[in-house]
Amino acid sequence: MRLHHLTLTLVGLVFAIGLLGANAPVFAAPAVVPAAATPLPPGPKTPPSGAAMAQTCAGCHGTDGRLHAAAFMPLAGMPTAQFVQAMRDFRDGKRPATLMRHVAEGFSDGEIDAMARYFVQVKPE
Ligand code: HEC
Repeated sequence: MRLHHLTLTLVGLVFAIGLLGANAPVFAAPAVVPAAATPLPPGPKTPPSGAAMAQTCAGCHGTDGRLHAAAFMPLAGMPTAQFVQAMRDFRDGKRPATLMRHVAEGFSDGEIDAMARYFVQVKPE
């Protein structure tokens, strides 16, 4: 009986040490992995669509390039060639602009083409 008790104590002690050992690295590592350390999912495989990129223009040119107040030029229905020329001229500094040079500098030729194809098919109001 006494021996049995001793055995139980020893087993318990070994178990406790084992637990401590197993837990030690957990104490060393941060308990919660910060969200920032989580790797981001891979980016989209296809380039953004003209429609998606056009959303960044909405603040000034109106949703879908349609304007209710004529503060800025609407883009809806603008002929493709005119749109592409305007964007490239803004980007290259050939057309004077207060804002559009900065905007246009962010887009490649392919992206400008994609937006042109989007805006031309939006019906102006
Ligand atoms: C911060 C406001 C702002 C944003 C955002 C903006 N624009 Fe403009 N846009 C202007 C202004 C202002 C003009 C007039 C030229 C100038 O002064 O820059 C203009 C002019 C234009 C013109 C010439 C219109 C014409 O009738 O000749 C085009 C094309 C154009 N923007 C396209 C875009 C596209 C495409 C986007 C989104 C990728 C965009 N703009 C985002 C302010 C903006």
